[in-house]
Amino acid sequence: MPGTKKVFVKTFGCQMNVYDSERIAESLIPYGFTETDCLEEAEVIVLNTCHIREKAAEKVYSELGRLRQVKEDRRSLGKPTIVTVAGCVAQAEGAEILARSTVVDLVVGPQSYHRLPDLIFRAQSESRRIVDTNFPEEDKFASLPDRSIARPAKPASARAASAFLTVQEGCDKFCTFCVVPYTRGMEFSRPVDSLLDEAGSLISRGVRELTLLGQNVNAYHGAGPDGKDWSLARLIGAVARLDGLERLRYTTSHPHDMSDDLIAAHRDEAKLMPYLHLPFQAGSNRILAAMNRKHTVADYLRLIDKIRTARPDIALSTDVIVGFPGETESEFQETLKLIEEVGFAQAFSFKYSPRPGTPAAKIDEQLPEEVKSERLHRLQAVLASETSRFNEGCIGRVIPVLFERRGRRDGQLVGRSPYLQPVHADGAADLLGRIIPVEISQAGPNSLVGVIRAA
Ligand code: SAH
Ligand code: SF4
Ligand code: F3S
Repeated sequence: MPGTKKVFVKTFGCQMNVYDSERIAESLIPYGFTETDCLEEAEVIVLNTCHIREKAAEKVYSELGRLRQVKEDRRSLGKPTIVTVAGCVAQAEGAEILARSTVVDLVVGPQSYHRLPDLIFRAQSESRRIVDTNFPEEDKFASLPDRSIARPAKPASARAASAFLTVQEGCDKFCTFCVVPYTRGMEFSRPVDSLLDEAGSLISRGVRELTLLGQNVNAYHGAGPDGKDWSLARLIGAVARLDGLERLRYTTSHPHDMSDDLIAAHRDEAKLMPYLHLPFQAGSNRILAAMNRKHTVADYLRLIDKIRTARPDIALSTDVIVGFPGETESEFQETLKLIEEVGFAQAFSFKYSPRPGTPAAKIDEQLPEEVKSERLHRLQAVLASETSRFNEGCIGRVIPVLFERRGRRDGQLVGRSPYLQPVHADGAADLLGRIIPVEISQAGPNSLVGVIRAA
């Protein structure tokens, strides 16, 4: 029986937040909630937030500003609303959020959201504001409802054929610019058995592609059923053997943990897609050391060589930061040079944003905004031309596409290539959730268009 109460969840930030939002929505199902896209009908509103850059964190406050009126209008109709800030801003700012925004009732960190049903109950019955940003001893994942019992909160979510599965969380690397070790806590890996169970539940819901998630996913070292710690490569092997699963991906990896067995998996595991997101952040060894990245430019290039030897058609993706404190023009040029040397299919680039509590924010030589913007602009021009080159290289090829949703136009479907490019093609809705050969006819800056060859 669907519940009568409604929860509205809005997600900011990374894929792990997307995963957490699904678990948050599902955890409320046993308490009579269903998910809604309509703010005005929600008893519970959850903003699942991101603290990675200043802009991301500030978005939350503009969103909370908009919620004030919604909450007020509901109150005047005699309908109370619990506004919850979850995620990494909740962890970083805690009770400060209550002081800055009176509209907020609950603040819950990424490691304690399994307590949300109880917190909502307490906030309602005791009518008080609560902050829970503990890193509890109990395993969050073990306390959340089983995913085979919890029905999906939304009947057909956008990428129903593709799902995220968090296998590792937190980070011990402490790059000097980054808040993640503080917001997500120390690195930990989930045990293999519980991951295989969850993967099995997702497959029985119709999932055909899984993306294994972790802030440092390739540092995975979870307890295996044999009592030994398993590597990510071994976990990938076990998940790949699950019947019904057709594609596997993982993200985000750190160059330092890109082990030989994981590289070999790109050669040996047919279900592992030829795509790797491997952030390098900067192309100067001096900046990499100041970032505490634990790798040099030469280390990175050596890795790329090994990976391409194992899987020649692999599409590489990366993250780059421009304008780290003290970065000179010639150090920035080294970043451009590295990008041209590797040739990326896809990249995400950011202006350095000083974050509270991180060592890099305390460095004196912070660069002016105009310098950062100008460098970002030049960098993005180079990256865009590489992405276009990669996409154009697909024209004329027949590529297997996993169709995931309907397109904007009637009769159009959208799916993903093995290289993670969105592919648009005309086709019947019964192709959703299936992998179909598509002949690529056009390439845009961010997606491909093609014609279905056989169904
Ligand atoms: N765990 C991943 C990614 C973490 S955050 C990794 O280690 O690569 C995602 C990306 O945000 C980072 O790769 C980095 O490029 C960017 N980022 C993190 N902190 C930032 C900051 N203070 N300013 C600008 N970009 C940042
Ligand atoms: Fe942040 Fe570095 Fe950890 Fe990635 S490896 S999450 S960039 S501290
Ligand atoms: Fe943002 Fe937290 Fe993810 S800071 S990038 S939501 S780990």
